[in-house]
Amino acid sequence: MFKAIFDLRALRCLFAAMVLLLAGGVAQAQGDARKGLYISKAAGCVGCHTSEAKGAEAYAGGRALKTPFGTFYGPNITPHPAAGIGKWSLDDFRRAIRLGERPDGAHYFPAFPYPSFTAMSDGDIADLWAYLRSVKLADTPSKAHELRFPFGFRAPVAVWKWLFFNPGPVAAAPAASTAVARGAYLAGALGHCAECHTPRNFLGALKASRRFGGAEIEGKYAPNLTPVRLKKWGDGELREVLTTGMTPDGDVLAAAMGEVVTNTLSQLTPEDLAAMIAYLRALPEVPEEKR
Ligand code: HEC
Ligand code: HEC
Repeated sequence: MFKAIFDLRALRCLFAAMVLLLAGGVAQAQGDARKGLYISKAAGCVGCHTSEAKGAEAYAGGRALKTPFGTFYGPNITPHPAAGIGKWSLDDFRRAIRLGERPDGAHYFPAFPYPSFTAMSDGDIADLWAYLRSVKLADTPSKAHELRFPFGFRAPVAVWKWLFFNPGPVAAAPAASTAVARGAYLAGALGHCAECHTPRNFLGALKASRRFGGAEIEGKYAPNLTPVRLKKWGDGELREVLTTGMTPDGDVLAAAMGEVVTNTLSQLTPEDLAAMIAYLRALPEVPEEKR
């Protein structure tokens, strides 16, 4: 009798443990929306996917991005089944972020910074997906891009990718300390800082030799981020600049950078902010360009 009860309890325990394990497994496969919110902030997804109009719905698209090739509009990425990406699966999403491919196989233009996001980890992509599934639906249709001939065609993007795109995820540089490696991931795979702070060639690809060397973006100059320039600020000063957008001389970082400060840098945990600074300090120096 005693043995039978004991067995029943053991069985129940085993059953409960299995349910918990299964639930845990499913949660892991589906991602964690709370962590995904942090990834979205660290990657600045909201900026390009939300119109600048007052009261615009987050992630409903419509933000104009002016480039030498024409104007791109960030699409609606809310879970709306028709206007947004509600019909997508996690696999579709991973393919977009990692490979810059639409579910039907067409290529995305690199105005969507997947050349940086490609290095995101599978776990972060799953968490980000779980978060995006949870944002408010918006029925605003995505706006068509207005691109100069012949840049509006998607097929030639295949050639561009063949020339310039290195799909991730990328292993951290072996010699980097943990903080520097984390900072590299935050600035690269997530914050895509190089996309604005590096000059591009005539095909719009980042010039590797001048990575973080400073570049023109939407009529503003995104300065050199290597120690050549940033050594003028101590770590505490740099932290203030990155989180408040105010420099020690009282200048305010405006335009695109103001948004990066508000949406991304001021939202990072103190550890991640320190890692970002450690990474910027460790960047190889790129001389200031003559302008
Ligand atoms: C610098 C601006 C920019 C940022 C930052 C950005 N995107 Fe985009 N995104 C775009 C543009 C532009 C497109 C459209 C590309 C195209 O049509 O080829 C796009 C397309 C997409 C698509 C495909 C939508 C569709 O309908 O096919 C998804 C999904 C997406 N972005 C998700 C994200 C996520 C998640 C983040 C943050 C990790 C992010 N984006 C950050 C500009 C951006
Ligand atoms: C969308 C484009 C864009 C992105 C992405 C971007 N920046 Fe900037 N950044 C700018 C522009 C433009 C300025 C100049 C702002 C001004 O002068 O008002 C700037 C200025 C700065 C400055 C001030 C430099 C100085 O000497 O005055 C720092 C530091 C900086 N960015 C760091 C970063 C970091 C770190 C990231 C990645 C998390 C980042 N930026 C991502 C466009 C960008």
